[in-house]
Amino acid sequence: MYYFDTHAHYDDRAFDADRAEVLQAVHDAGVSLVMDIGCDVSSSMKAVALARQYDWIYAAIGTHPSDAYKMQDTDLDLYRSLAATNPKVRAIGEIGLDYHWDTTPRDVQALRFRQQLELAEELGLPVVIHERDAHQDAMNIVRDYAGRVTGVFHCYSGALDMAKELVSLGWYLSFTGVVTYKNARKALEVLEWVPLSRIFIETDCPYLSPEPNRGKRNDSRNLLYTNAKIAEVKGLTPEAVAAATMENGRRFFGLAD
Ligand code: NI
Repeated sequence: MYYFDTHAHYDDRAFDADRAEVLQAVHDAGVSLVMDIGCDVSSSMKAVALARQYDWIYAAIGTHPSDAYKMQDTDLDLYRSLAATNPKVRAIGEIGLDYHWDTTPRDVQALRFRQQLELAEELGLPVVIHERDAHQDAMNIVRDYAGRVTGVFHCYSGALDMAKELVSLGWYLSFTGVVTYKNARKALEVLEWVPLSRIFIETDCPYLSPEPNRGKRNDSRNLLYTNAKIAEVKGLTPEAVAAATMENGRRFFGLAD
């Protein structure tokens, strides 16, 4: 059984002490593809470096809404040239809106979100969205780009209505270890409904370890718990969910078999 971790942060300093060992163990455990997701210029450059070093790792580049306060206009040029010179850059992300932490004024978040959606459209890349406690405003922006940009809402936390609209617009929903938590009722309701062809699985490591490893540093070996929970909710085998999410992710990020 092979897994595609569509959202990981192996560039994070949480892996500085043992990154090579963890990546080897992850790959040996059947995680055959990883998207390493940038959060600002520095982590985007590290994501690209990992993608250059490992043939099974790909990169997304962009500035996270909680880091948007430090983003400069020139960062867009840097992302443009990183994408142009590195064919393993397969998405712009993670970008979006975060009203939970509120480190960045909302108008600044919206400006940087729109600028990076426009960059994705220009480059013909999909986007990876981080959205927390900002459902309405995020959907209003996404609707403005309908037919021009598609993407995935990572660690999906919205309601069923929003999920239905996103799927109708051609978007994908991605699920983390949060689906294994006791308070996951809303996410499970969405999972029951969402077509298998529109789901990705992800760790968001080093964060969000699923049960039974909640609270510990996460890595892609824990995908099996998230995958098993999704299989249980949808009444499918774990093999079927792993295969479908692999295929979905490959198609979305443009990776050959
Ligand atoms: Ni993330």
